[in-house]
Amino acid sequence: MHIDILTLFPEMISGVLDASILKKAQDKGTFNYNLVNFRDYSENKHLKVDDYPYGGGAGMVLTPQPVFDAVEAVKSRKKTKPRVILMCPQGEPYHQQKAEELATEEHLVFICGHYEGFDERIRQHLVTDEISIGDYVLTGGELAAAVVIDSVVRLLPDVLGNVESASEDSFSTGLLEHPHYTRPADFRGMKVPDVLLSGDHAKIAEWRREESLKRTYERRKDLMDD
Ligand code: ADE
Repeated sequence: MHIDILTLFPEMISGVLDASILKKAQDKGTFNYNLVNFRDYSENKHLKVDDYPYGGGAGMVLTPQPVFDAVEAVKSRKKTKPRVILMCPQGEPYHQQKAEELATEEHLVFICGHYEGFDERIRQHLVTDEISIGDYVLTGGELAAAVVIDSVVRLLPDVLGNVESASEDSFSTGLLEHPHYTRPADFRGMKVPDVLLSGDHAKIAEWRREESLKRTYERRKDLMDD
């Protein structure tokens, strides 16, 4: 998978993508990314990328020209029709199903802004998806894009060591994960449930399913509603 990220602050992204499992995925060639500073595409003599809103009001608005040109450049470089994803608080709320859907694509383009808004023509004529990572406002879309990219890349083939670790994730089963324990069996008097030491795999599977249901009911009843 190839990912292009349009941002005015590339340093907000690279630290996240160049560490741990995402770094290993790059080394294996499973995914690679390219940071595009769309200011480089500005035709303004001062390389401006924003302007005052028509109709007045506070804040600046990202102008369409640098964003359109940057997206068109990455599209023609790769000769693909990528999903073009705008990160914004007004977008579709992000969830695991969307991560699974995006993980099937070969090329993704993320647009991250730091201003009051985007010119509406970017939304209407350039963007295929608008994503919000939650009902709060960040200073820009970079951290949100990093969240989405992390959750997508870990689903790509051979990125996670254990083939089962993604299929048993919280959410991919529709429920939250069951509790986990490791050695020692007794830590300062806090004991591991007997069933996990029993060696009875059917019983262990049943216990895990029940704990998963209980945890989902207690913490995220909304996941059980449909
Ligand atoms: N940009 C600013 N806040 C955001 C959010 N909650 N989700 C996605 N992009 C954002």
